[in-house]
Amino acid sequence: MTTPIVIDCDPGHDDAIAILLALASPEVEPIGVTTVAGNQTLDKTTRNALVTLEVAGRGDIPVAAGAEAPLRRDLRTAAHVHGETGLDGPELPEPSERPVEAHAADFLAELIEPGVVLVPTGPLTNLALMLERHPDVPDRLERIVWMGGAIAEGNITPAAEFNAFVDPEAAATVFASGIPITMVGLDVTHKALFTRAHAERLRGAGRAGRFVAELSDFFQAFHERSYGFDGSPIHDAMAVAHVIDPTLMTTRGANVAIETRSDHCDGRTVVDLRGRTGRERNAEVGIDVDAERFLELLVTRIASLP
Ligand code: BDR
Ligand code: CA
Repeated sequence: MTTPIVIDCDPGHDDAIAILLALASPEVEPIGVTTVAGNQTLDKTTRNALVTLEVAGRGDIPVAAGAEAPLRRDLRTAAHVHGETGLDGPELPEPSERPVEAHAADFLAELIEPGVVLVPTGPLTNLALMLERHPDVPDRLERIVWMGGAIAEGNITPAAEFNAFVDPEAAATVFASGIPITMVGLDVTHKALFTRAHAERLRGAGRAGRFVAELSDFFQAFHERSYGFDGSPIHDAMAVAHVIDPTLMTTRGANVAIETRSDHCDGRTVVDLRGRTGRERNAEVGIDVDAERFLELLVTRIASLP
């Protein structure tokens, strides 16, 4: 069975790789891509989504641009991780396609019907706007699989993961919506590092493989410098992989609350794994992952692209 998915993203190296993994996988069918400001400004993340689709020869998949800024905060980008373009590393061609006219929040509402899984891999601003403008969506949206948050340490601050930190109000809205959410956080994504050896297996493959190898050269240099890692976590691809093969990651049901009013902890995803707060479960949270199988899936699938 093929699951239709919509990827709401801010490419971003790992967002681009997540899109390519989806395009290479028969278990899922990307029916649209929407973009949000996050890793870079909206014009750049939108351009990068168009470029990524075209690298895989899938410029036919519609792209809709969404929020230029978080709901109630100034945008904080991650240029220190993803560079000035948001996809530093490979030479980026000028995309030949244009985004559709509709705002991502409206386009998402149009695309969502029973059976479609929404896979956000950036700040949740577009999803929050969608819920505000289209309050009927929760009745037909079965599932969200979000890359974001952390049970333990954050990355943009000690307390917060980047996607949650950029727009905590949006994240709080989405986690309060009642829509089943799976949170694929840093606790699992940091367990699977894409190494230089993985990149070399892709460099000689097709155009998409070379593109991913060149993205990884840049992305990995950041993770070596900043974490001393011998590879880079391809965070966003793990959310797509969870839809492709749910046996890769184990999850636990928990309440997740998002901190929005703290000097030091804004954007923290407070995950109550042991029911200490008495708050109801509102998410399945990634606890562990079969890193080897995930990385093998990623490499072999992307190597199969032209
Ligand atoms: C998340 O933040 C972004 O920089 C990545 O694209 C990923 O979605 C990881 O914290
Ligand atoms: Ca992202």
